[in-house]
Amino acid sequence: MASADQGSSGAPKPVPGSYGLPVIGAVRDRLDFYYFQGQDKYFESRVERYGSTVVRINVPPGPFMAKDPRVVAVLDAKSFPVLFDMDKVEKKNLFTGTYMPSTSLTGGYRVCSYLDPSEPTHAKVKQMLFNLLLSRKDDVIPTFRSNFSALLATVESELAKAGKAEFNKLNDATSFDFIGEAYFGVRPSSTDLGTGGPTKAAKWLIWQLHPLVTLGLPMILEEPLLHTFHLPPFLVKGDYKALYKYYSTAGKQALDMAEGLGLSREEACHNLLFATTFNSYGGLKVLFPGLLANIANGGEKLHQKLVAEIRGAVAEAGGKVTLGAVEKMELTKSVVWESLRLDPPVKFQYGHAKKDLEIASHDGVFQVKKGEMLFGYQPCATKDPRVFGATAREFVPDRFVGEEGSKLLQYVYWSNGRETESPSVGNKQCPGKNFVVLVGRLFVVELFLRYDTFTANVGTELLGTGVVFTGVTKATSGPGS
Ligand code: HEM
Repeated sequence: MASADQGSSGAPKPVPGSYGLPVIGAVRDRLDFYYFQGQDKYFESRVERYGSTVVRINVPPGPFMAKDPRVVAVLDAKSFPVLFDMDKVEKKNLFTGTYMPSTSLTGGYRVCSYLDPSEPTHAKVKQMLFNLLLSRKDDVIPTFRSNFSALLATVESELAKAGKAEFNKLNDATSFDFIGEAYFGVRPSSTDLGTGGPTKAAKWLIWQLHPLVTLGLPMILEEPLLHTFHLPPFLVKGDYKALYKYYSTAGKQALDMAEGLGLSREEACHNLLFATTFNSYGGLKVLFPGLLANIANGGEKLHQKLVAEIRGAVAEAGGKVTLGAVEKMELTKSVVWESLRLDPPVKFQYGHAKKDLEIASHDGVFQVKKGEMLFGYQPCATKDPRVFGATAREFVPDRFVGEEGSKLLQYVYWSNGRETESPSVGNKQCPGKNFVVLVGRLFVVELFLRYDTFTANVGTELLGTGVVFTGVTKATSGPGS
């Protein structure tokens, strides 16, 4: 195990696979992807068919939204990191893949996620986000705790009334307010935006992501409505304007700082909106339900271990949830990483080959031509059995604990980089990396300071996992009781 970077076998070979007939092949594959096979099976079956984890395939949406659906897919832990290498790939206009949403959804600007590090604006915007997160670092823990303890109080009152509490709906409202308050000190729900922020944000997200999702409607409706043409941007103009107003007012300090970095106030504000609403809110919308589901399925034994670790560390810190206390919680951190490994919230990554390349998988070396689109389906890479062994597809809470466990962190790729590496203005790794792992841990801490154990039903939702609480057992000991 964990030897994925060593050696590669044999002389370079052409990449196996097939794109099928023009247009027809891509449409047929799109139907496999959405309806006949589903995402995981779509990729796994092609790996099996061609006997290779580096393989030529079509990716959705295909005609008529994407000019070219053909990619070279890298589907194991060894080949995937080619997508992180800025000397080898260019990441211009491909955040959402083979199509790009209209820039009229982002104020006419190509925002940071669509910029390659070679473009000067990339460094300025990314620096603005680093500065913003740094300037607010002391506010994250108290803001998280006040927002999420209120969420759990609502869970309890809904359980008392109805015997169940839908987590995702509560999480949407709470995460949206939490992010606004953590970044800018102003809860969006206390401004003109009111409680409508999450709905406006979700609508705007759908306008950008509809080519890549299925709503569970009949194929005959979804294909023309979602997967063939772009939804017209003017239909979300009002929602975007209301969101923009919040950021331009609440984000005043961040915008002042951005001007000092050489950005116009307007471009900075559209970027703040995108990083906060799409990257951060969109991320937490998927992250917390996935994490909660894995912990719920982990059962009471896991809950007891988390209770002991979390309450012990908090007691040692004088009953306070401090950064130092959270850093001591090894199992809690491992649980968050394991969830990010098993269910990476952002599953697709893309990059154009900057030059002719040789890409090594576990089984061979493959030739790729300059300009070809490389694509990674992250779950295939982070569930690679040649790295994570026989339990690669299972949730193993303590996988990353201890010296041996931490050696596996280099194969955790959720942030578009190795977990052992750091985002910078020169790469495309997520600037929210540390923030995300921190709030993931704070989420687990809040749960187990408050509860000894809980039960929940786990299902699926539009962008990921759906969780419904069915019972909680309030804490009987320690700082949370
Ligand atoms: C980029 C994941 C939260 C801001 C990315 C990328 C991934 C990712 C995979 C790379 C996309 C690509 O280029 O292919 C996530 C996940 C999150 C999360 C799963 C939460 C669970 C955040 C937060 C921020 C953020 C909290 C706030 C600053 C960004 C930005 C980029 C980015 C601005 C573009 C980076 C660049 O252009 O260099 N994120 N992210 N993300 N993320 Fe995050």
